Amino acid sequence: KQVSLVGVPTDVGAGHRGASMGPEAIRVAGITQTLEQLGLTVRDCGNLNGPPNPWLPPQAGYRHLEQVIAWNQLAHDALYAELSEGRFPIMLGGDHCLGVGSISAVSRYCREQGRKLRVLWLDAHTDFNTADLTPSGNIHGMPVACLFGHGPRELVEMAGQVPALQADMLRQIGIRSVDDGEKTFIHQAGIEVFDMRFIDEHGMRHTMEQALHGLDENTHLHVSFDVDFLDPDIAPGVGTTVRGGPNYREAQLCMEMIADTECMASLDIVELNPALDVRNQTAEVALDLVRSLFGQSTLVRPRHKIGAG
Ligand code: ARG
Ligand code: MN
Ligand code: MN
Ligand code: MN
Repeated sequence: KQVSLVGVPTDVGAGHRGASMGPEAIRVAGITQTLEQLGLTVRDCGNLNGPPNPWLPPQAGYRHLEQVIAWNQLAHDALYAELSEGRFPIMLGGDHCLGVGSISAVSRYCREQGRKLRVLWLDAHTDFNTADLTPSGNIHGMPVACLFGHGPRELVEMAGQVPALQADMLRQIGIRSVDDGEKTFIHQAGIEVFDMRFIDEHGMRHTMEQALHGLDENTHLHVSFDVDFLDPDIAPGVGTTVRGGPNYREAQLCMEMIADTECMASLDIVELNPALDVRNQTAEVALDLVRSLFGQSTLVRPRHKIGAG
């Protein structure tokens, strides 16, 4: 299997500068070597080249809308091209506004191929704001709403079909920060959210069994991994930390259970902010988790049967 790394070095959707350095920090931590050690063939496509961050206040509820559209269109085109060539794309963000470009490409590809789509959104946040609901104007808080058809036309229509995603295709995991209006809106949309309370009560194992239920051989599983999903104790290098996230062991189990499905076919790693990190430790933790996502396990063991059947 060929894996493609697509760097998307921007922070135009965020409220802190620095996520634009994320792709290089993950390369420095050794993503290519890590994946090669697991037997994968890695093709580093380098970085996309989009507009600079003008660092302006929001206008009409959106900060940097024009630049966010430009970067997402670039990401969409690059990721769609990799998928079409039969490769497994890993998008190295960049802030989470890029989820629109990435997941709209996956949505387009699955529609054309007649494949079912399941998106796992690993995040402290639901990212379901709109211009009317947002407390910040930062578009990295809005990609899920855009994929569901709520947002600026250029983002909403990127998949060539509106909405790009429906509630039955999405599971959100690790959620612990939702804005007031966003809370009502996400409930109305009928999205299945496994928040930290659910994980506390049921454990990560049962949470993942639920989130992965119903996958089959024809399902394309996309993982959108916002690094702020992790507890800030182990992952300080993100712009919007929220305490009380999954610890190292819980996060490892989450990734191992995803790998066991053998359905994962595309991945985003977003919101890593090296300007806020400590000696690149967050990038290194993210790579530990990527290793598990791609099937590294301590022992020879049968895979945990989930999803299928
Ligand atoms: N809900 C907040 C907002 O909309 C924070 C969003 C954080 N999103 C992220 N991808 N880190 O501003
Ligand atoms: Mn996010
Ligand atoms: Mn987040
Ligand atoms: Mn169970």
